Amino acid sequence: MADSKIVLPTDESIRDAAAALSSGELVGVPTETVYGLAADATNQDAVLKIFAAKGRPSNNPLIAHFASAQDAEAWIDVESDFNVRRQWNIATQFWPGPLTVVAPLTGSVAPAVNAGATTLAVRVPDHSVMQSLLREFGKPVAAPSANRSNYVSPTCADHVAAAFGDDLSMVIDGGECRCGVESTIVRLTPTVPQLLRPGGISIEQLQEAFGEIRILGIKSDAASPLPSPGLMRKHYSPHTKLVKVDSFDPSVNQQTRIARIFFSAASDSAASADGSAPFAWSRVLSDSGDLDEVAKNLFAAIRDADQSDCELIVIDVCPLDGVGRAIMDRINRAVTQ
Ligand code: TXA
Ligand code: MG
Repeated sequence: MADSKIVLPTDESIRDAAAALSSGELVGVPTETVYGLAADATNQDAVLKIFAAKGRPSNNPLIAHFASAQDAEAWIDVESDFNVRRQWNIATQFWPGPLTVVAPLTGSVAPAVNAGATTLAVRVPDHSVMQSLLREFGKPVAAPSANRSNYVSPTCADHVAAAFGDDLSMVIDGGECRCGVESTIVRLTPTVPQLLRPGGISIEQLQEAFGEIRILGIKSDAASPLPSPGLMRKHYSPHTKLVKVDSFDPSVNQQTRIARIFFSAASDSAASADGSAPFAWSRVLSDSGDLDEVAKNLFAAIRDADQSDCELIVIDVCPLDGVGRAIMDRINRAVTQ
């Protein structure tokens, strides 16, 4: 049973997990953003197991996780350019936390980790269990989100065990992820840092810290390996058709069983007051409409709606302020085109 792979975090299970990583096995790990599917980033065979298990294209590089900024710095070169050094000093102030930094690679990670690129994505996660594991293991840990490629990211241990129970040695249960959306990715450059993916750290926070940040557009296809293959438009999709509420016409779908995801209790009561048929399934992500809470509960709700017997998921939208940008980025990439 996949569930039997879930272990609670104890000194012993952390040691077991580090030993499993050392022997080239995969481990499901909690972070503050989403759960990761982890392998020893210096072991090419182990890293290839991640790509095989996820069904991930080999041109899509992985993030290397470290216990501290100092540990991460040993694997990248931030000295060759003044601006890159300056940006690194600023970026590391967000650690531990939901920020990933792309910088020139110097250490020898397994080539599959960064898909043969000249850069490496590094992150220091803010989760005590993952921190303990990283300290115990003492080497970089490569970990993408622990979902099958193109499916919704996992925010609890059950999501990971259900998808990868046969592929990994254990999943450490660190509870529900606090952020619920993946890390923000920033690439350091000799000029202005570039935002590659919105996430748990907002653009407003980055603008305040860096002064200026370039926001790259979303790529429309999978063809180009960089700047970030994860920017592909189609991503995160549930199997069930998903539409945003602003492009949903209730009158043309009378017979359709609809799963409705509300961001606040207010939008729920507005919908029930409009006189249309009740939804077959519904969930409110935050009573008060707090966007941090919406982000935290978003992926689990999309997964649960996907597993209901509904034929259509209709989801709220929000402004692009703060974490709202990451929320809408994920939803826009999950909607059925
Ligand atoms: O919150 C997170 O970042 C989670 C947790 C587990 O840390 N991880 C995560 O990994 O979201 P993943 O593999 O699902 O997304 C990583 C993204 C991908 O879109 C990938 O293309 C991009 O990071 N990436 C990785 N290395 C890169 C590099 N060297 N240059 C540009 N983009 C890179
Ligand atoms: Mg992912």
